[in-house]
Amino acid sequence: MKIFLIGFMGSGKSYWARHLSESLDLPLLDMDEEIEKKTGLNITEIFSKKGEMYFRTLEHELLKGFIRRDPLLLSCGGGLPCFNDNMSLMNEHGLTIWLDPPVEIMVERLKRKKYKRPLLKDLDDEQLTEYVTKKLSERTAFYSQAQLIINPLDYSVESLTQKILSCKEPT
Ligand code: S3P
Repeated sequence: MKIFLIGFMGSGKSYWARHLSESLDLPLLDMDEEIEKKTGLNITEIFSKKGEMYFRTLEHELLKGFIRRDPLLLSCGGGLPCFNDNMSLMNEHGLTIWLDPPVEIMVERLKRKKYKRPLLKDLDDEQLTEYVTKKLSERTAFYSQAQLIINPLDYSVESLTQKILSCKEPT
C-alpha cells in the first residue's frame, strides 16, 4: 500500500503520519525532512538562500523517486500538491488523503508553530488568519483532488485506519 498524506500547514500531517505508519505498518517518509537531509539546510534556509522555486523543484524531483517505493506512507509539505502536477502523479500511484480540519483549528496551531515555517514566520496573528484563509482557498482546487477527504477531528487512529483499509487503492 502507498499513501500520500496531504493538507495545509497545521492540519496534523505529522501526527497522523506517525500514528498511521504504525497502525498500517507502512514505512514513513516526511518530505520536508528528506529535503533537509538532501540539502543539509533547514526549510527556512532553503527558502531564504535558494528561493521557493528551488524548493518546489526539489520536492518534485524527490517525489518522482518516492512514488516508486511500495509500501510507503509519505507525509507531504503543505504546498507540494499545488505545484508541478504533483497531485496527478500521486493519484496515479497511490491513495491520496487530504486532512481537512476547520481553518480556525489550523490557525490556532500555527500561531504557536509559525516560526519554523518560512511562509508564516513574519506574520502577526491577524495577518496569519488572513493568509491561511486566502491560501487555503487557492489550494483547495488541488487538495480536493484527493481520493479520501477527511476532517481528522472526526476520527480516532483506529477508525481512520479502518476507513483507509476499506478504500480500494488504485493499481
Ligand atoms: C509549506 C509547508 C511546509 C513546508 C514549507 C512550505 C507550504 O510543510 O513544506 O514550509 O507551502 O504550505 P508543512 O505543511 O509540513 O508545515
